[in-house]
Amino acid sequence: MPLTENANPFTGALSEEYEMLQHICPNHPLLAEKLGQYVSRQRQGAISGFEIGCGTGISTYSLLSAAPGLSLVALDASAKMLEQARANLSAEVAAGRLRFVEADALEALRALPDESLDLVASNYATHNFRADYRREAFGEIFRALKPGGLFINGDRFALDDREAHLSLTQATLRHWFETFTGLGRLDLLEEWVIHFFSDETSDRIMVFTPALEELGALGFAPIEVGFREGVDTLVAAMKPSIRKA
Ligand SMILES: C[S@@+](CC[C@H](N)C(=O)[O-])C[C@H]1O[C@@H](n2cnc3c(N)ncnc32)[C@H](O)[C@@H]1O
Repeated sequence: MPLTENANPFTGALSEEYEMLQHICPNHPLLAEKLGQYVSRQRQGAISGFEIGCGTGISTYSLLSAAPGLSLVALDASAKMLEQARANLSAEVAAGRLRFVEADALEALRALPDESLDLVASNYATHNFRADYRREAFGEIFRALKPGGLFINGDRFALDDREAHLSLTQATLRHWFETFTGLGRLDLLEEWVIHFFSDETSDRIMVFTPALEELGALGFAPIEVGFREGVDTLVAAMKPSIRKA
């Protein structure tokens, strides 16, 4: 699917002032940190990894600093986000541990060889995907992981209870209005609200239990929830070491 059909919001104002996200989503840096911590607990020694939607490199840095044996290919479709990531992580690139790729996630995943990776990681990227695109991407991740490989995904997983999710969404928007009004940045608030609406549409929203069931149906087991606060969730899905007969 061409990227235009899976429109990426991180190409304009949101990418230019991406650091504003910390004011409205405090769990974002926390999940990036937990992503690295989880990988370091699970995997020692040399690890070949692939990151989807690395953005400006916040999650990339966490992964690389927590897991010294990790060599990472970090992918993003937004040139503006990658420009910042390249500036932020030039030392890791120079050390030969990191390579950036500007590409659409699904196209790049489709091109990966079977069973070639120990780790696929992502932080706050897959909820941006359309549901059909995401389903295919998760399937490609399963295919590209080695047996025993790990898919770790820190992201927004909507509450199963739609009423509870609506209340949480309303509270989130109230908090955003207070925060951006206080910062005098109603221009950015407009951009984030528009983006938020597309995340919440029925063809994109990533609901917690169906999303985990989708991973289970692909063959991931076990699937562990390492953190969940509101919608902010860390999901660790293992590709079994031994194939079922
Ligand atoms: C909210 S940012 C998260 C960035 C980073 N992982 C972090 O923790 O700060 C989501 C990133 O996913 C990227 N992205 C969204 N859809 C994509 C796609 N289909 N292919 C590649 N990158 C995509 C965006 O460009 C953006 O940089």
